[in-house]
Amino acid sequence: MKKIKMILDCDTGHDDAIALMVASKHPDIELLGVTVVAGNSTLDKTLPNTLHVVQHLGLDVPVYGGMAKPIVKAQEVADDVHGKSGLDGPVFDELKIKAQDEHAVNYLIRTLMESDGDITLVPVGPLTNIAMAMLMEPEIVKKIRRIVLMGGAVGIGNSTPSAEFNIYVDPEAAHIVFSSGVEIAMMPLDLTNTALADEKVIERMANIGNKAGQLFADIMSFTLHSQAVNGLSAGPVHDVTAVTYLVAPELYETKKMHVDIDLSKGPSYGRTVCDINDRFHLDKNVTVGLKIDLERFWDLVEDVLRRHI
Ligand code: BDR
Ligand code: CA
Repeated sequence: MKKIKMILDCDTGHDDAIALMVASKHPDIELLGVTVVAGNSTLDKTLPNTLHVVQHLGLDVPVYGGMAKPIVKAQEVADDVHGKSGLDGPVFDELKIKAQDEHAVNYLIRTLMESDGDITLVPVGPLTNIAMAMLMEPEIVKKIRRIVLMGGAVGIGNSTPSAEFNIYVDPEAAHIVFSSGVEIAMMPLDLTNTALADEKVIERMANIGNKAGQLFADIMSFTLHSQAVNGLSAGPVHDVTAVTYLVAPELYETKKMHVDIDLSKGPSYGRTVCDINDRFHLDKNVTVGLKIDLERFWDLVEDVLRRHI
């Protein structure tokens, strides 16, 4: 089988780090590059956090620093969730590797324009890098195979009652991406909040006995309490579900629907308005993940972690 070419766009971040672990070693994925954006924390943290994961696991993938601020909105970060460093929990050696000199947005434009239209973008942070690339070179829209992202919510948000963090941080960027015409699959909060790593999952991954399993455990042990959902002692691995959707869509229940980003400056600013019952009779521009088979999901994650050092 031909591998799926993908670029991961992330704001590392706990679940971003695990998404990177899965994307970099899944046998059906060719991870071309990792672009980094500000989101969970500022770029001067998300970029080294990404490099730390790459260095720690000896990954052979280029990393590019991208947009440090949202396009319009004032910057907001989630240090209440991800800690002071943006990736509190694991302890890494001193950083010896560097990001590429090229800016992430230029890298995206260059790589997409030189491609045969066979590259999938997997953004798991605010959509600033992707939107900026579309603004700077609109021709890339035709070159993107599709976008599979983590973000938005059908129901209740986590940043506001209406908006999920990745979309809320840069709603204007999200609007550009969602109205671009590119095929989009979206893994919303409603689904990702069910992919919870509890003590049992953490023990299972640690028991693999390699560096990746231990890193998973160190990362998710931090989130047990800081990101606990519904009072449970378990942390969601949101971003991972976008990567696994790419290689195992059969694990998901999905529905195609029209999704719009609310840009009005009221209480719904940054909401992904998901027309699940087709009230607007508009084009169904997004495939939305509604449910995931968690047993097979964790089997898949474990299988990929075993392929690491
Ligand atoms: C999203 O926000 C970030 O905190 C996570 O990394 C994930 O991408 C969940 O709302
Ligand atoms: Ca993220």
